[in-house]
Amino acid sequence: MPNRIKEEIERLKKERGAIILAHSYQPGLIQDIADFVGDSLELSRIAASESAELVIFCGVKFMAETAKLLSPESTVVLAAPDADCSLAACMTGADLREMKKKYPGAEAVTYVNSTVDLKSETWACCTSANSVEVVEAAPSDEVIFGPDRNLGTWVATQTKKTLHIWPGGCHAHSGADIRHLREKKAEWPDAEVLVHPESPSVFLWEADKVLGTGGMIRHVENSKSMKFIIGTEEGMIYRLETLFPHKQFAAAGNIICDDMTLTTPELVLKALESRGDGIEIPSDLAEKAAAAVRRMTEIG
Ligand code: 13P
Repeated sequence: MPNRIKEEIERLKKERGAIILAHSYQPGLIQDIADFVGDSLELSRIAASESAELVIFCGVKFMAETAKLLSPESTVVLAAPDADCSLAACMTGADLREMKKKYPGAEAVTYVNSTVDLKSETWACCTSANSVEVVEAAPSDEVIFGPDRNLGTWVATQTKKTLHIWPGGCHAHSGADIRHLREKKAEWPDAEVLVHPESPSVFLWEADKVLGTGGMIRHVENSKSMKFIIGTEEGMIYRLETLFPHKQFAAAGNIICDDMTLTTPELVLKALESRGDGIEIPSDLAEKAAAAVRRMTEIG
C-alpha cells in the first residue's frame, strides 16, 4: 500500500475520532490498517463499548448494520458500500412470521448474518461463537433458527432442544469441494482440521474441531499442533499466519467470499473522508432489532 494512503488514513482517523474495525476474513492489507480485527461477536462488542464518533467497518453490510444498532450515536460507514452477504438475503422478516405461525410455541434465534428486517422479528441473534449458548438461553424448548441451515444443523447436534431450521446458506462455504480437504489431509496427515459451522456437514464430519473464527484463533493458540487445515473463508489464513508465524496453515478448499474481498485501502480512505453516508436503520425496526443484537452480546 502506498505510504501516502497509510499516512492519510492515520491522520484522518485522529482528526475524525474514528476507529477501523475489520473482520478476520478481510484482505491482509485491510487487517493491517485496522484498529481491531475480530470475529462477528468480538466486533459487535467493540462497536458497543467504544462509542467512537465514526466507525469504519471493513466487512459486509450486516456487520456494519449490527455496529450501528449497538452504537446508534456513532456514524458507521461500510468501507466497501457494495459488500453484502448472500446468506443474509436468504430469509426475510415475513418468512419468519410464517414460521412462527407454523410453530407458535417456538422462539426465534437468528444468525447475525441477516437483515435488520429479520432481526427485528427475532428473540435474539447469535454468531457462530455463541449460537449454542443463545439457543440454550431461549425461553422455549422449540426454537426457530435461520437463515443458515448448516449452522442450524450443527447447533441441533449440540442441544436437546428441537430446532426448526430455515434452509439458507452461505454460497462460499456451501460451495466448498470436500475433495480439496481430503487432498490436503493426505498431504498433511498430522495437521488438525478446523472447520467453520457454516460448512456442509460432510466437512464437519472430517473436522477435528468445529469452530467460529474467534474459536479457531483460541484453539490454535492453545494447541500443541504445528499444522492446521482451515475450513473457512481464506482471509482467515492471513489472520492466523500473522498471529502465529511459527505455525503452518493451509486452506481446506477455495472458500472465497467475493464481498469480503471488495474492501481496499482507497475505499477505507474514502470512507474516512466522507461526511454523512453512514448506515441508516429504518426507525420502525431499529428498537426491536437492537434488542435482539444486544441480547446476543450478553450471552456466551
Ligand atoms: P464468525 O462468527 O466466525 O465471525 O463468522 C462470520 C461469518 O460471516 C462467517 O461466514
